[in-house]
Amino acid sequence: MSKKDSLTELFPKESDIPKEFQLSEELIQTEYLINGEIRYWDGALETVYSPVCTLKRKKATQKEIGKYPLLTEKESLEALEAAVNAYDHGKGLWPTMPISKRIEHVERFLYFMQQQRDEVIKLLMWEIGKNLADSQKEFDRTVIYVKETIDALKDLDRKSSRFEIEDGVIAQIRRAPLGVVLCMGPFNYPLNETFTTLIPAIIMGNTVIFKPPKLGVLLHRPLLEAFQKAFPKGVVNTVYGDGRTVVGPLMESGKIDVLAFIGSSKVANILEKQHPKLNRLRTVFGLEAKNPAIIMSDVDIEATAKEVLLGSLSYNGQRCTALKIIFVQEDIADSFVKKFSELVDGLKAGMPWEEGVKITPLPEWKKRDYLLSLVDDAEKLGASIANTKGGFGSETLFFPAVLYPVTKDMKVFHEEQFGPVVPIIPFKKVEEPLQYIIDAPYGQQVSIFGNDEIEIAKLIDPLVNQVCRVNINSQCQRGPDAYPFSGRKDSAEGTLSISDALRVFSIRTLVAAKNTTQNKTIISNILHQNRSNFLSTDFIF
Ligand code: G3H
Repeated sequence: MSKKDSLTELFPKESDIPKEFQLSEELIQTEYLINGEIRYWDGALETVYSPVCTLKRKKATQKEIGKYPLLTEKESLEALEAAVNAYDHGKGLWPTMPISKRIEHVERFLYFMQQQRDEVIKLLMWEIGKNLADSQKEFDRTVIYVKETIDALKDLDRKSSRFEIEDGVIAQIRRAPLGVVLCMGPFNYPLNETFTTLIPAIIMGNTVIFKPPKLGVLLHRPLLEAFQKAFPKGVVNTVYGDGRTVVGPLMESGKIDVLAFIGSSKVANILEKQHPKLNRLRTVFGLEAKNPAIIMSDVDIEATAKEVLLGSLSYNGQRCTALKIIFVQEDIADSFVKKFSELVDGLKAGMPWEEGVKITPLPEWKKRDYLLSLVDDAEKLGASIANTKGGFGSETLFFPAVLYPVTKDMKVFHEEQFGPVVPIIPFKKVEEPLQYIIDAPYGQQVSIFGNDEIEIAKLIDPLVNQVCRVNINSQCQRGPDAYPFSGRKDSAEGTLSISDALRVFSIRTLVAAKNTTQNKTIISNILHQNRSNFLSTDFIF
């Protein structure tokens, strides 16, 4: 049997899909949430194909799993109007609500959200091909993120509940919301990375328009009712459809105050430029990256190969933080490539629900062809596929290819592959990978693998000025979520972490008064009579 055929055989027949993972029916979503109402769309719908194919007479075809609304500019502007009205120039119910009350709404949402766990996890598998364990992790990590956001806000609020006196001026400094936030997450973490902006934006008192990524839409459907039940009208509004049709008008309106976008820098720049008032717009971007591993000759080859495997091929390498280019000191390069290739060949490919599966179908349109073109280009220019099973694709499945030795002339040296192709480059001196990082348009993270503290320290100092996280003998990653997640150049704008996100979606604002008897009396009376939600010494426990 050819390698391609053996991959095709991994797709199930309809009858082979385990009962607990079957979709009970085709999911025809017509609902969208605007101004606290779930509305029903009777216009055009987009068909959703799963990356999971099913076999019929030995032919694999992507399974059609549902449809979602292709809204138009009209509905998009209705969502905008609802968010603008709910914010009401900062006078609305939500932005003026005491923080403790806003927290209660988010807790309510969390309660409803948790009831949808199984459904969302199943849809993550079907819509984006993420394996069961990682889909469960994505859901649970998001729940923890929301809980920790609540704790972080309580902490922030406690610190702001006191007054300061400087140079004869009394002040209370707190964080106030910014206005209307447009949140757009990526397909690879459609739940988690959307919620890492959506929840902090809401809880800080902003109102939100939320557009799910192109792939990974239906999994948000079970949460629509949770948003509706948990928040006052207009606080959360959803739009679906073609980005140019529904997002363009939002940006061009000039009424978006914050754009939170996780995706490509190209799209981020287009959206930003559509806004007519750039000084009004705050941007929070998580963009592309091509994080390198730098492997020194004194490493434990086996342990390093295992960590690089995790870093480069978890969720088929479809993580912005994935290790996407591997530099290995030349005296151990051959041995490293041999060990690493063995480990790659040991990865189980299959359907997302299968026990122990690591390589799963890819959701992006024609991704297999793109990956094959990278492999082809590298082979023509002198690299080989180092692993026995590598470089074969069948429909949406692609078994990882380890390419070695990769050089600067090859496309895979420069392009962010965002998939299961691992380029390995031998180097003599550490200046070579360092120069790669300097020249690259990205600046997210790097992983250094080595044992010599003097050599590692020599690399740390220049690297911390090129990227935003230097990992030692550890893969690149976003978590723990308490740590800052950011990037330089085309990799990010702004910093996200549980506490940083609260800052990103708010602005320090103060109420100040000269320290006179009259002012002290006014402030004391406001406090004692609980006249203001902002000017208050209430302490959230
Ligand atoms: O796709 C980018 C994600 O933020 C990566 O997160 O490192 O936790 O997989 P992760």
